[in-house]
Parts: sequence; C-alpha cells; structure tokens
Amino acid sequence: MSAVLDTSHAGPEAASGLPGLLPGTERKSLLRFLTCGSVDDGKSTLIGRLLYDTKLLTEDQLAALGRDSNRRRGATEDGLDFALLVDGLAAEREQGITIDVAYRFFATDARKFIVADTPGHEQYTRNMATGASNADLAVLLVDARHGILTQTRRHSFIVSLLGIRHVVLAVNKIDLVDYSKDVFEAIVAEYQAFAESFGFRSLQAIPLAARFGDNMLTRSERTPWYEGPSLIEHLETIEVEEADPSAPFRMPVQWVNRPHLNFRGFAGTIAAGSVRTGERIVVAGSGITSRVKRIVTYDGDLEAAGAGAAVTLTLEDEIDASRGDVIAAAVARPQVSDQFAAHLIWMHADPLIAGRPYLVKIGTRTLTASVTDIKHKVDVNTLQKLAARTLELNEVGFVNLSTHEPIAFDPFSSIKETGAFIVIDRMTNLTVGAGMIEFGLRRAHNIHWQALDVDKSSRAALKGQKPAVLWFTGLSGAGKSTIANLVEKRLHSLGIHTYILDGDNIRHGLNRDLGFTEADRVENIRRVAEAARLFADAGIVTLVSFISPFRAERRMAREMLQEGEFIEIFVDTPIEVAESRDPKGLYKRARQGLIENFTGIDSPYEPPEEPDIRMTPDLSAADAAEVVVSHLMRAGYITQGAH
Ligand code: ADX
Repeated sequence: MSAVLDTSHAGPEAASGLPGLLPGTERKSLLRFLTCGSVDDGKSTLIGRLLYDTKLLTEDQLAALGRDSNRRRGATEDGLDFALLVDGLAAEREQGITIDVAYRFFATDARKFIVADTPGHEQYTRNMATGASNADLAVLLVDARHGILTQTRRHSFIVSLLGIRHVVLAVNKIDLVDYSKDVFEAIVAEYQAFAESFGFRSLQAIPLAARFGDNMLTRSERTPWYEGPSLIEHLETIEVEEADPSAPFRMPVQWVNRPHLNFRGFAGTIAAGSVRTGERIVVAGSGITSRVKRIVTYDGDLEAAGAGAAVTLTLEDEIDASRGDVIAAAVARPQVSDQFAAHLIWMHADPLIAGRPYLVKIGTRTLTASVTDIKHKVDVNTLQKLAARTLELNEVGFVNLSTHEPIAFDPFSSIKETGAFIVIDRMTNLTVGAGMIEFGLRRAHNIHWQALDVDKSSRAALKGQKPAVLWFTGLSGAGKSTIANLVEKRLHSLGIHTYILDGDNIRHGLNRDLGFTEADRVENIRRVAEAARLFADAGIVTLVSFISPFRAERRMAREMLQEGEFIEIFVDTPIEVAESRDPKGLYKRARQGLIENFTGIDSPYEPPEEPDIRMTPDLSAADAAEVVVSHLMRAGYITQGAH
C-alpha cells in the first residue's frame, strides 16, 4: 500500500503538494524522507552535506520555503495534507511544546526533497513518529565503528511499523575504519538478518564519510569496492509508491459549514482516494448514504478532487454529519467499531497503564479510550514478544484498545490516514503515544447492550431512594473506612439500602490478584468503579472506601455515573497524622523498607482538586459522618419517605 500522502507526484495541478514551492522545479517528483540516528552518528553533518552539496537554492528561496512550510504546517489544524501523526505535532505546537522536527527542503535537477530531521535523544521515538508519518523513505544512520545498536534496531522497527517501505542503511564514518570493506559488509549482513521480517521493499546500504563527502554526491575513490549508487543518486532515482488514486475515498469532517439555511457543506481534507460529483458516499458512523452535489474550494467548484485537497462537500440529501465523522465511498466503506487491536508506540516518561482513560485522536475525532489489554511488548533487539503490564518510554506494544464510542477506521495496513491515531494524556494534554490500528475486534460486534425493562429508576423507586456513590479517597489510615462505616450505619437506620465496597475487603476477593504497583492500582480502581456503577444501577447507595490515589481513575469513576450521582469525599488527613495513627502498623513497616510502593511514602497520592466534601482531621469520625449525611439531605438523596 502506498506510503505517500502527498499527491504532488501527479504534477503541480494536483490539489496538494508543493506547487510553486521550488521555483522551476514544479515538474519534478518529490521524495519525503526521514533521517534516524543520533548526533554522534553524524546526522547533522549528513544533512548539512546534502543541503550544501546540492546548493541549488539561494538564501532567499530557502527563507521563502521556510515561510511557506510554516504556513502550511500552521494550517494543519484545518486539515491540510499532513497525516494524523503530524496533526499531533500541530496539537503540541498549540500547547506550546516544541518538538524538534525540522523539515528541510532541497532539490537537485532530478527531484525535490523534504527531509524530516529528528534529533536522536531521549524523546526520539516521539520525534521520529512525527517526522515519519508521511515519509517515503528512511535513512538509518550507523557509525561504522559501532555498527548496529539497539537504537538502530528500535528505529528500524518503528520505521516498519509506520509503514515506511524503503530504507537506506547509511554506514557513516567509514573513514574511521580505514574504508574497510569487511567492516561495511559485516554491518550490512547483521542488519539484513535483523530486518528480514520487516518486509522493506528496498534496502540500500551505502558506506559514507559524510564529513568528507565520500559517496554523498558521487561515488568515492576511497571505497573502490563499493559498486552501488551514491546517496544522492539513490535518493534521486529510488522509485517509491505514489498516492494511490484508486484508494477508497475517505474524508474526516473538520467542520460543518452552514453560512445560511440554503447551504450546508462538510469541510475537510481528503485523507485518501478521490471523489467526484455525483458519486455515492456514506457517513461511516450512521451508515446513511447520499451523493456528492458540489465540491467547493476557495478557487471555485471542482468536478473531482484527490487526497490532500481541502474541500467542502455539499450533498444531494439533507443528512447529518458533524466534526469527527468520516465521509467515505459508499462502495468501499470503512469499518466501524469501538474495540481494536493496535500497535502502540509509547512516547512519555509516565508509562502507559492498561485500564487508564486517555484521549485518542483519530482523524478529526477526539474521544476517551483505554487500553484494555497489553497483549505483548516487543523487545526491539530480538523482536521477541514479551509479556507486559505497562509500556515505558520508547517501548512498542500490541494492545487491545477500547473507545468510548464506535469510530470509523481502516486497518493501518490498508489506509494509513484513517488507521493511525495519537494518544493524549487527559491531565496534561500531552501526546503520549502513537498507534496503528491493525484490526477491529470481532467481539465488539457480538456484544450489544441489552435493554432491560426494569431499570435503575424503577429499582430505586421501589426502595424510595436515589442511588448515589459516596467515594471516599485519602491515605491509608486517613479514616475513610471508619467514617464510611458510620455513614452507612446512619443511612441504614434511615431505611436506606446501602452497600460498602472497601479496599481491604475487595482485595480479598474480586481484586485478589492485584498488588500495589501503579498499574495494579489503576486496575483495582477500574474494577471497583465498574462495581459501583452496577450497584448504582441496582438503585443502591454505595459507599466506596479506597485510597484511589490517582485523579485519572477517580474522574473515570465519576464519568461512569450520571450527573450528581458521584460524590467525592476527600478524607484529607495529612501523612504525619495517618502515620502517627498507623492502625495496622503498615507505615512502620513501609519506613523499614518492608513494604514497597506505599502510598505517601514511595508511591504518590494525588489529592482531589475539587472534592464534593473535604474532611480535615480536626473533625471526629462521628462529626465527619454527620457532614456526609447532611450533604445527602441537602442534595436530596435522603427524602422524607426514607424513614
Ligand atoms: S488503592 O491505592 O489501590 O486504592 P486500596 O484502597 O485498594 O488501595 O488498598 C489500600 C489498603 O491496602 C491500605 O489501607 C492498606 O491496609 C493496604 N496496603 C498494603 N500495602 C499497601 C501499599 N503498598 N500502599 C497502600 N496500602 C497498602
């Protein structure tokens, strides 16, 4: 499948591409490539060389290009022709976070080039995934003295995951190993064996001394044993797949343009394929079809438009679609599901935790999602699949992902643009992962929400009460269970049907398999939140008493319930007080190093920012319980009838 999003191969008339960007070069084809490697490998030198040796652009032209490209990238939010992962870049720009991906332009007589230069430090996978999203080829830089390193393997794996099918293995600093054929060949052999399973369509190894220009522009006399092309020759002539005009039409809706009653247009950038007036389309989520009436652009109406074009479609019928929907060819529809198997590249120092809610952005749609299962992570050195509970920075895993609502998608292997997504942390708004959907999970089709005739309100009505979840959070020894116990006694005496879900108790049964790592705590809370939701559905007033140290999961629990049903009670006992009480002697043991990951000692507690009720330690347990009961009375949870 094509790895090229830009359609400028089709010539300057194509709606996207870089028409006029490089004066006098409009008719040349374009190659987008990515360089991977670290500063030590000589990457900057290599890029500097390429730009310098090709010397075709004047300073002014370069400056103009920079401006142009900035404008293009600035417009990405409105859906120009950058792939999803680059959308992530735009999103991060908006958040004022710099990612160091520099796009540089140069040209030779034969071709024009865009090189995404990504630095090779800690955050390199993030930068790489950003830069690689629409690259045709990757130049993997290796220092001849060091050979293939873990980093080279990781880069290769990510390059293959991102669907890049052409690779140059640039064995640099060949001068420092005396232009040795043997060294070069050993590196190439090792790499070939490693990369075998990636299915690259081309793999060209080139011995280089970027610093001195050997094999950069022309073949070097100092490597007479090397018979392949120079780097520039190879980049000029390599044939890469062009954007496939026969790919099925896909356009994520950016916004609905409704300037007046007689006009309703769906604006967006065509992600794949092409569209003509009169063609039958479908709004993928709802399955409703219509025909394209007009294809409106700033430069007037078009008969047809292809990938990369920013257009507004008007349809024959008045049908509904909104931002985030995908308009697609009716004859070749995307899949719709809320559960997927996907590859995920983790890009943040805070690990991915299964069960934790994140935001996922796919196309123009952003919604809540969580990883339900990490099937495995991949050891990038051996490509072995390893069991994992979390994904750490720069790790790659194969996961099951579940979205809050069904979404339209294509497997990444068939259409990159509708199969790629980014993962955003809900608290920090940072992009923390990039993913590729492999397939929708069958089970999502087979499990439907069963509509039941007796519902929550009828169950609650029978008891004459309003269901609620009283969520007690705070450190171990804060007094959560003591207060919850008193509250339950009061409610019970008022004739209210209650139930307590208590951390220590649930950990003896339902959550017996869980410990106290971050991942286990997230799962602990996810399960108890699900249980609390079921109890609320049963019409019961439920008291939950768990440390529940993380904001993300408490927020998740709140969002599982109806407005007002979730009452967060922060038992705000400082650690000194909890520790001096030490009812179970656990603090003492934790201080002695006998218990690991103890909350408040070597595991964090994130206090609620806006709890519904906050208890300070100066209140006695009985007074604290009274505060909760009067809150419930005021909020209408305890009614006259409840006696
Ligand atoms: S939570 O963090 O996952 O919400 P939970 O409320 O279920 O914790 O369990 C906390 C109880 O487990 C504490 O009250 C304490 O009795 C016990 N416990 C054992 N080990 C730890 C630990 N490392 N950190 C906190 N509590 C622990």
